[in-house]
Amino acid sequence: MASPQFCFCHAVAANPLPMAPKQALCSLILKSPFSSSITRSAKSHYHRNCCYSCTVDACVDVKELRSPDLVALEYADLNLTDKISRELGHVRIRQHVNPLSSSFSVPARIPDWREVFRNPTLPLMVDIGSGSGRFLIWLAKKNPDSANYLGLEIRQKLVKRAELWVKELALGNIHFLFANATVSFRQLVLEYPGPLMFVSILCPDPHFKKRHHKRRVVQKLLVDCIISNLLPGGKVFVQSDVLEVALDMRNQFDAESHVLQHIDETDPSKLIDDDGWLLNNPMGIRTEREIHAEFEGAKIYRRLYQKRT
Ligand SMILES: C[S@@+](CC[C@H](N)C(=O)[O-])C[C@H]1O[C@@H](n2cnc3c(N)ncnc32)[C@H](O)[C@@H]1O
Repeated sequence: MASPQFCFCHAVAANPLPMAPKQALCSLILKSPFSSSITRSAKSHYHRNCCYSCTVDACVDVKELRSPDLVALEYADLNLTDKISRELGHVRIRQHVNPLSSSFSVPARIPDWREVFRNPTLPLMVDIGSGSGRFLIWLAKKNPDSANYLGLEIRQKLVKRAELWVKELALGNIHFLFANATVSFRQLVLEYPGPLMFVSILCPDPHFKKRHHKRRVVQKLLVDCIISNLLPGGKVFVQSDVLEVALDMRNQFDAESHVLQHIDETDPSKLIDDDGWLLNNPMGIRTEREIHAEFEGAKIYRRLYQKRT
């Protein structure tokens, strides 16, 4: 029997995942199609370690667990094969790209919405800086008939892989675009035939140096554009594991309090800490950056706004 402090289930219990009770996670480990991408040493512990508080008779020794394993586990119910990743080769992630460079200044072509969405009039959620896309794919799969999902990502290879996953899952309510959101967001939402109901900006690149702050995606122009296009009652969700970046976003959205309310004002079930950060992730799933950051013990600073009706 694994000692409690080393048991994966206890690590999960200490750092709860919103949609996956610890027992479910243990069984996810066992049936995960990603199990091939889980470290060999972690796998070898499945059947050797038994958690005393879990009904499933095997779990992973947390000492062996890496944060990519947690990502694979959190998204296990998407049933994505790793065939696509193998075909595409290693998706090299450069630290940060410079969105102000001339190579990213060309606006994305507006897609034919009837080609990319089964019903192009559904309310739209836009995820700015969608990264791998798994977060948005998870939401799209969960809500196949009630909303469309658009991921904007400046790294082309991530977009290519995400689109292949969308095809593999045969989802008709999600699309990923290679786009610099700073340049393309406005036109895309203006030309979308349905209402804009949700915008998320989750763990955006921090661009720490002061002289690089202008590369950050949340700038006054984008904030104004989100607000003016958002449906009354629509929401904006921002978060970061970097306090300075979270504060920068918060200050800009808080400044619009005549049009935006923080969610705890309208929904008392959404709890905030003493500093006004949301205590829980309201989406039902964590993003990849969020999983990595929490694995390393970081706090996630979240704000969820609603446009006044
Ligand atoms: C730190 S990652 C976070 C990804 C994902 N949201 C998550 O939480 O796991 C930030 C992402 O934003 C993308 N990005 C940065 N600037 C962007 C821009 N101007 N337009 C679109 N995507 C951008 C980056 O390429 C990167 O994939």
